[in-house]
Amino acid sequence: MLKLLTIIGARPQIIKAAAVSRAIAKWNAEHALDEARQICEVILHTGQHYDDNMSDVFFRELGIPQPDINLHVGSGSHGEQTSKMIEGIGKVLKLEHYDGLILYGDTNSTLAGAVAASKLQVPVYHIEAGLRSFNMAMPEEINRIVCDQLSTILFAPTQTAVDNLKHEGFMAQKRKFADGRIQQVVKSGDVMYDNSMYFANKAAQKSDIMNCLGLEDKHFVLATIHRPSNTDNAENLNNIFRALLGIEEKVVLPLHPRTKKMIPLELEPELLSQIDKLAIIEPAGFFDIIELERHARVVMTDSGGVQKESFFVETPCVILRPETEWVEIVEAGAGIIADADYDRILQAYNDMCDRKVHFPKLFGDAHAAEQIVQIIAER
Ligand code: UD1
Ligand code: UDP
Repeated sequence: MLKLLTIIGARPQIIKAAAVSRAIAKWNAEHALDEARQICEVILHTGQHYDDNMSDVFFRELGIPQPDINLHVGSGSHGEQTSKMIEGIGKVLKLEHYDGLILYGDTNSTLAGAVAASKLQVPVYHIEAGLRSFNMAMPEEINRIVCDQLSTILFAPTQTAVDNLKHEGFMAQKRKFADGRIQQVVKSGDVMYDNSMYFANKAAQKSDIMNCLGLEDKHFVLATIHRPSNTDNAENLNNIFRALLGIEEKVVLPLHPRTKKMIPLELEPELLSQIDKLAIIEPAGFFDIIELERHARVVMTDSGGVQKESFFVETPCVILRPETEWVEIVEAGAGIIADADYDRILQAYNDMCDRKVHFPKLFGDAHAAEQIVQIIAER
C-alpha cells in the first residue's frame, strides 16, 4: 500500500485536491483486488483558511474526505504562519512513514509542505508546478520557486509551465534526491479543468445564485479581488473600485476576507458612499462561483483560479494584475491584462464586450488527476 500525505490550506487547494482525491478513489476501485497497489491518502489541512465559506463549504460540495489532521494555524505574518506549518507538518511526517507528499499551487501551505517533507526526505509531488509570474514581489512566486526546486515530480499543467522549468534548467540538472530518485517534470494538464468539467452539470442543478441575485445570463460582470498588491495598496484598490463602479452592467463581487478587511481602511469616501451599487456578497461556494463564471458577460479578476475557470466555461476575462502566469489565455485573446489601471480596465471591458472570443483546449483532457495518480502510484 502506498501512503500519501496531501497538504491543503487555502481555498483553491481544497478545490484542486477534490480532483485528485476522486482519482485516488477511482484508482483504488480499479485495483480493489490488489492490496499492494492501493493508495491510502491522509489529508492534512494547515488551517490557513478557516471560515466556513473559505474552507468547509468545499468539503461539503465537492465530496472531499474530511481532513484527517487540521493544524489550525490560522492567519498571521508569512514567517509566523509558515513556520507553524513547517513544524506541524514535520511532526506528522515523523509519526508515521509516508511514501510521498502531494502539494498544490503556491501558497504558504505549499511552501511549508515542501520544506518539511524534503528535510525529512519524503518525496514531494507538486501539482501546478512550473508557473511563473516573473514578479518576485508576489509571495506566491517565492513559494513556487522553492517548492519546484524541492519536488521529486513536478506536474506542470501547461506547455508554458513545462517551458519555464526547462529554461530554469530543470530538465538538464537531473537533481538526485537522497532516495536515489531523479527529479522529473511531467506535463499533466490542469486538475482545475477536471473539476470544472466534472461539476458543471451539478453546479447548474444545485446553484440558485442567478435567481437569488436576480441576474440575467450575460448581463452582469463577475469580479473577484484578493491579491495583496491590490488590496494592500490604496491607490490600486481605489482604481479598481472606481472602474467597477463605472461599469453599466450589474457587478457581482464575492468578497474575499482580505479585501473585506481593507475596504473600510482604504477606500476613498466618495467610492465608499457608492459601494451599494455593487452586488457584494460573501465568498461564494464552488457551485455558485462556477455558475457566476459561466453566466457572466465578462469576469474581472486578480485570481489565478478564476481566470482559468472563466476560460473553461468560455467567458472572457479582464486580468486585474500587471502580468499573469496563465499567458495562454491572453495569447488566445480570451483575457486582457489591465492591471489596477482605471482606464485600462474599462477599455479592456469594452473590448471584451465587442470581441468574438475563442477558447481553444489548452488545459488537458479533463483527466489530469487520473494521470497524476497513475504516475505517482507507478513510481
Ligand atoms: C492566500 C494565498 C494566495 C491565494 C489565496 C487564495 C499565500 C501567501 N497566499 O492568500 O496565494 O491566492 O490564499 O484565496 O499563501 N482570512 C479570514 N478568514 C479565512 C482566511 C483568511 O478572515 O478563512 C483573512 C485574515 O484576515 C487573513 C487574510 O484574510 O489575514 C489573508 O489570508 P491569507 O491566508 O494570509 O492570505 P490570502 O490573501 O487568503
Ligand atoms: N472561488 C470560490 N468562491 C469565490 C471565489 C473563488 O469558490 O467566491 C474558487 C474559484 O472557483 C477557484 C478558486 O476559488 O476554484 C480560486 O481561488 P482564489 O481566487 O481564492 O485563489 P487563487 O486561485 O488566485 O490562488
